[in-house]
Amino acid sequence: LCPGFIALLVLPLTSCSGTHSALDPAGPEAANVAQLFFVMLAGGVVIWVGLVAALIYSARKKREHSEESAGRVILWGGAVIPTIILCALLSYGMWLMPAIRPWVPDDQQVRRIEVTGEQFWWRVRYLDEAGETMFETANEVRIPVGEPAHFSLKAADVIHSFWVPSLGGKMDMIPGRTNPLTLTADREGTYRGVCAEFCGESHALMAFTVRAVAPDEHEAWLAERRVSGSQDAEGLAIFLNNGCGACHAISGTPANGRIGPDLTAFGERTTLAAATLRHTAEDIARFVAYPGVIKPGVKMPHFGMLPEDDIKTIAAFLKELK
Ligand code: CUA
Repeated sequence: LCPGFIALLVLPLTSCSGTHSALDPAGPEAANVAQLFFVMLAGGVVIWVGLVAALIYSARKKREHSEESAGRVILWGGAVIPTIILCALLSYGMWLMPAIRPWVPDDQQVRRIEVTGEQFWWRVRYLDEAGETMFETANEVRIPVGEPAHFSLKAADVIHSFWVPSLGGKMDMIPGRTNPLTLTADREGTYRGVCAEFCGESHALMAFTVRAVAPDEHEAWLAERRVSGSQDAEGLAIFLNNGCGACHAISGTPANGRIGPDLTAFGERTTLAAATLRHTAEDIARFVAYPGVIKPGVKMPHFGMLPEDDIKTIAAFLKELK
């Protein structure tokens, strides 16, 4: 075997660990998905080995002109036994399904995180038990570790799909519907999520993160995020004068646009443009100047015509926004 071929064989294994793998589960829902995969794989291997063995055996028998015996092996090895195994796998899959997709009815009074897929980012709203919005953010979700997080998944324009491989199965986001999904993280960490349904030019640039933190830290964060902090007045003035507030909201300021991502407390985020760029002043400035170059198809217009100093001031303002 040439080294290239071996490299090709093991290539898929490189994605088997880390914060972006369905085979490296970080919670019970994801563990069920991984278990389903391995059981299906084992069943597939048994069928494949059995079929090949039946084929070789019957070819030999045929050469020995023992047609009747060859036919029997083909019938059992090629049809009856695979059918039994496939039925067993199907029953197992259907039995496991409720555990993979725990369902919490809409009228049940639980805290939810409403995530809306939009071209090409994620609107995130934290709802209280009564279903009222506590606050809104984008592209980065926080959940308490060890507790089920209930998501209400929606779409604003076309079909998207919400998928955090380390935390569970994917769930489509369909315009006009709300799909429930429950995910639990057993250990602290930041897990990468992606859009798993082709939704337009920048579908591949529509990622997000889910950060699981200790429950008391999460509560403190929720309480703190309900009040807005201070920000640099010059940066805010340039932001407002250039009309940024028509599309983006920053709580506690006149910026109250609802079209684009809510930028309240943008300074605490770790990525930019739906996990496409780094959260640095340089990357923020690049995005503000030419968003459509970085993410084809975004609704945000270019601001490259502004004086460079203004773009830099806006970027610095957003980078530190509390
Ligand atoms: Cu959104 Cu693909």
